[in-house]
Amino acid sequence: MREQASYFKINSNTVAAVMLISLFSSCYYSRSSPGWEYMPDMNHSLAYETYASNPFFPDSMNAIQPVTNTIPRGVYMPFHYSTQLTGYDSAGVNLNFPDWLNDEEKEQGKYIFEIYCAVCHGKSGVGNGTIVENPKIKNPYPPPPSYFSENLINLPVGKMYYSVHYGKNLMGPYGKILNRNEIWKVVYYVKSLQQHHKDSIATAGTATASADTAAAVATTTGGDSTKAAADTASKK
Ligand code: HEC
Repeated sequence: MREQASYFKINSNTVAAVMLISLFSSCYYSRSSPGWEYMPDMNHSLAYETYASNPFFPDSMNAIQPVTNTIPRGVYMPFHYSTQLTGYDSAGVNLNFPDWLNDEEKEQGKYIFEIYCAVCHGKSGVGNGTIVENPKIKNPYPPPPSYFSENLINLPVGKMYYSVHYGKNLMGPYGKILNRNEIWKVVYYVKSLQQHHKDSIATAGTATASADTAAAVATTTGGDSTKAAADTASKK
């Protein structure tokens, strides 16, 4: 019985000593190092790091280049129009709206427009964006031309795409910021603004025309009621 107790005593002392030693030896001075790692696989992924070397590839580079002359999926597509004026003209003739554009895409185009373009072009497209017309800005940005100006109102969509992709004079390029579909959506939206403008002019024109006819009738007949109708029409 006595022998057993002393055996136990020695044993528990040894265990305590081992525990203390391992406790202190596991404390490591450097704060930037984790010290000993007992199960590193639990902490570190076994996958290769993107830019690490990899013995399985002939050039030992883990980040493999895309196969020559191929384009990775979902990445920015090349734009095959020259940066010279001929490229602009050619885009105007050959590039057209893809057939998947619809009202929903137009809404997305509006969203993109208000993020990237409205600061200069203004929400309505007349060229009065916040960096152009802002009393707090000391040197305001020169106003871009209105989308409804004579030069731009009938600008072919291909030319618009081209200018948004490459930029034009004071407007920066968006080819690396927006992908192909996004540029189409935003151009579609710009065209819809222009169409809306043309439609409103046409309606106003019809109103004026009918006012003129009514006025002419009023003069010939001398009728007050027709004159009143002419006034209402011209106010539209
Ligand atoms: C930093 C201000 C600025 C921003 C932002 C901007 N533009 Fe412009 N944009 C201009 C100016 C200035 C012009 C006139 C360029 C010229 O003809 O000299 C222009 C011209 C245009 C034209 C006519 C191009 C042509 O071929 O004549 C279109 C279309 C256009 N912008 C669309 C956009 C769209 C779409 C966006 C957003 C993706 C955008 N712009 C963002 C300043 C801007």
